Parts: sequence; C-alpha cells; structure tokens
Amino acid sequence: MRRMPENEAEHETRPGEIAVALPARFDAGIYFIGSIRTPWQSRADCPKNGRGSQEICSIELFEPYAAALAGIEAFSHLVVVYFMDRARRDLVVQVPRHLGEPRGTFALRSPVRPNPIALSVVRLLKVEGSRLSVAGLDCLDRTPLVDLKPYYASVDSAGADPP
Ligand SMILES: C[S@@+](CC[C@H](N)C(=O)[O-])C[C@H]1O[C@@H](n2cnc3c(N)ncnc32)[C@H](O)[C@@H]1O
Repeated sequence: MRRMPENEAEHETRPGEIAVALPARFDAGIYFIGSIRTPWQSRADCPKNGRGSQEICSIELFEPYAAALAGIEAFSHLVVVYFMDRARRDLVVQVPRHLGEPRGTFALRSPVRPNPIALSVVRLLKVEGSRLSVAGLDCLDRTPLVDLKPYYASVDSAGADPP
C-alpha cells in the first residue's frame, strides 16, 4: 500500500544528500489501526512539529480496534505514533532547508527515514466512540495511525531524569 510522494519536487535529492538502496524485503509488518484527519493537505502547510500547533485534529480508529480505547479518557496527554506514508525512505544523509548543511537521518526529526515512523505528544480533548479529538499534531490529512499510548511525564520526559 505504497502511496507516491504527493510532490516529487519536494523529494528531489539535494547536493550533499546520500541515498542508499533499500532491502528488497521488509523485516516485519505493521497494522494501521486508524487514520488521522488534519486540516493539512500539503507538507508546506503542515506545522514542522506538533508542539507549535493548537489545531484540533481527529484520530479515527478502525472498527476492530475501538475497544482498545477503553480507559483512555483518563489521560490528559497521549503519545501518537504514525506512519509518514508520503515520505521517501532511502536517504541516510539529508540537507534540510532550515540547516543548509548535511546531517545524518538519525540526527533529524525529518519524515524521510528508512522507517518513516513519527511521534507526537498530544493533548487529549475529547473521546467520542472510536474518534478522539486532539491538539498537537503535525501530519498530513489521512496519515495512517500506528499506535496510541498514554503519556507519563515521569517516564517520557527526560526532564524527569534523576540529576
Ligand atoms: C518534521 S516531521 C516530525 C514528525 C513527528 N513529530 C516526529 O518528530 O517524529 C513533521 C513534518 O513531516 C511532514 N509530513 C507530515 N505528514 C506526512 C506524511 N503523511 N507523509 C510524509 N511527510 C509528512 C510535514 O512536512 C511535517 O511538517
């Protein structure tokens, strides 16, 4: 279920970038558990990260997984894991526009990576059946949902580390 990049020009290899040949086969499979509905149809419109966004977005769980939401309303924040389905996957060195110099993919939050898995900590605003309203996302409309987890500041915030 590979979708082509929405805008090939945005995915051209820039001078200094390094692309690699990806393996012919995947090592594992994942199930998309839902779809994320946002106001953003193009990457240019998307916030660069969810922290800066107050926009209210919907997370729609596919029917077999709705029961897995039981108890979720108790949490103020969630970790949302999603699949950047319109990103290329073969760059190991990138030249982001905002940096203007090469940097390794694993030193970037770019959607372009061998496994284009993204995460955001979102504010949970409402739960209605199989739909959640949240604030704090940065993805294109209809981005596939991979997982939801409760956010625990004591576990997930590096600021909570012992000195
Ligand atoms: C910099 S990434 C950060 C993603 C996530 N917050 C993280 O840190 O893992 C966010 C950008 O990815 C791009 N993007 C969003 N949804 C995408 C999708 N479905 N496929 C490809 N690129 C996407 C947009 O340009 C957006 O501004």
